[in-house]
Amino acid sequence: MNTPICDFLERYAEEDAVRLHMPGHKGRTFSGAGRDGSAESQAAAGAGSAASLRTDMQACGETGSGAAAPGWSTGAERYDITEIEGADSLYEAEGIIRESEQNAGSLFGAETFYSAEGSSLCIRAMLCMVAQYARERGERPRIAAGRNAHRVFVGAAALLDMEVEWLFPPGSTYLGCPVTRDAVRDYLSAAHPLPTAVYLTSPDYTGTLADVRGVAEVCRERGVLLVVDNAHGAYLKFLSESLHPMDLGADLCCDSAHKTLPALTGGAYLHISRKAPDMFRRRAKQALALFGSTSPSYLILASLDALNPYLAGGFRTELCRMAARLKRMRQALDEKGLATVGDEPMKLTLAPRKFGYTGYGLAAYLSARGMVAEYADPDVTVLMPSVRTGDGELERLEAALLSLPRRAPLCGEPPAVSLPVRVMSPREALLGPEELLPVGQCVGRVAASVTVGCPPAVPVVAPGERIDDAAIRCFDYYGIRQCAVVREPWQE
Ligand SMILES: Cc1ncc(COP(=O)(O)O)c(C=O)c1O
Repeated sequence: MNTPICDFLERYAEEDAVRLHMPGHKGRTFSGAGRDGSAESQAAAGAGSAASLRTDMQACGETGSGAAAPGWSTGAERYDITEIEGADSLYEAEGIIRESEQNAGSLFGAETFYSAEGSSLCIRAMLCMVAQYARERGERPRIAAGRNAHRVFVGAAALLDMEVEWLFPPGSTYLGCPVTRDAVRDYLSAAHPLPTAVYLTSPDYTGTLADVRGVAEVCRERGVLLVVDNAHGAYLKFLSESLHPMDLGADLCCDSAHKTLPALTGGAYLHISRKAPDMFRRRAKQALALFGSTSPSYLILASLDALNPYLAGGFRTELCRMAARLKRMRQALDEKGLATVGDEPMKLTLAPRKFGYTGYGLAAYLSARGMVAEYADPDVTVLMPSVRTGDGELERLEAALLSLPRRAPLCGEPPAVSLPVRVMSPREALLGPEELLPVGQCVGRVAASVTVGCPPAVPVVAPGERIDDAAIRCFDYYGIRQCAVVREPWQE
């Protein structure tokens, strides 16, 4: 499989052209100005040199600009260009970017579009298209979403003035929302009018997969679209049996390539099923352009491009090997009594309270041994190894976990989550006057923003909802100290 974006960037860097176009670094490395404010030392590095952090620091010292200046450089500037001739243009792609997107699409079995701004951009675009689809059919856009949706979903739905019905089945926790096929069937049977789409977040932050196949079947029976936030699951396509939403019947989904594949941060895919109404393929670029920067990073696009031959080649074998390795590790940890949760093959989520630790405590234990977790809270520690994690690193991790001293179990449960009452349109709450208050003063007030910790960026309360005691307990538990609330008219 070819890599048209990478090839173009390499050719251009070799040409050593005078770059009379953006960006301002002109292809030259820049690691920060010297103490006197001059950037001469960086100019000395010159275009076309792939300088490293160390060489840049040395250059600072040699030119007498004082001690090594604060700053950094990757040497990547030479490949960091704008939409010059031949480089195509992300939102009007018909050249190298389109060719590369088609390569990705052939791997994922979908119509695939690149995002250089993460799944965040894709989620906004997906919601926008769902709203357009509803309006084309003369319907008011409505979406039924699992409550553990990411903050971007909540913000985008509010901005697009899209009606959200929360799916909040029994057993819901702050991060987990067990939306089953039966729950969706029951919901759709009772819904009048039907929503335009059902929206699932799968995998969730702790590595639990929803029954996307079952929910897709039920949605299809009722003529409702299925949209999946698969930000954490790009790799699911490449397991020996694909668990990717595009193969399980979703109409639209987003994958953050950067979360689980070796791509630069920001690299993501918007996938549209070949079975989805044609409108989605036609309007995808327009929808992405509506929210995206007009200066998408070519470095990120190149990193998506470079992935394609790897995904088509050795990735599957490496992934299967790594998934099997993690399965063995999970078994060893379970035997030791250190519980793991979730069913996603590449995520290792530990629930260490019964072993005597909070999630924070276990993360600190690992950190003291040079291993940094993705996320921790009072109950879980989330670890995200990938195919790029070395065997030796996994051995270190396993050894550290297996030698964790057992302590007396910690009692206490996370507070029950509830679905706060909506008293105002989310859009009105989000765009109106607000004030920031300590959470203790927020009971009875209406949330004006998406109040979350990030990660995991899952809202406890959405804009327009009244903050109740249960929400306050959740804020306290997850360390959220302040909350933006709608300013009452008497305060004007
Ligand atoms: C479930 C979920 N959806 C969407 C996003 C946004 O993805 P990105 O960071 O690629 O914009 C995240 C980010 O952590 C996430 O956890």
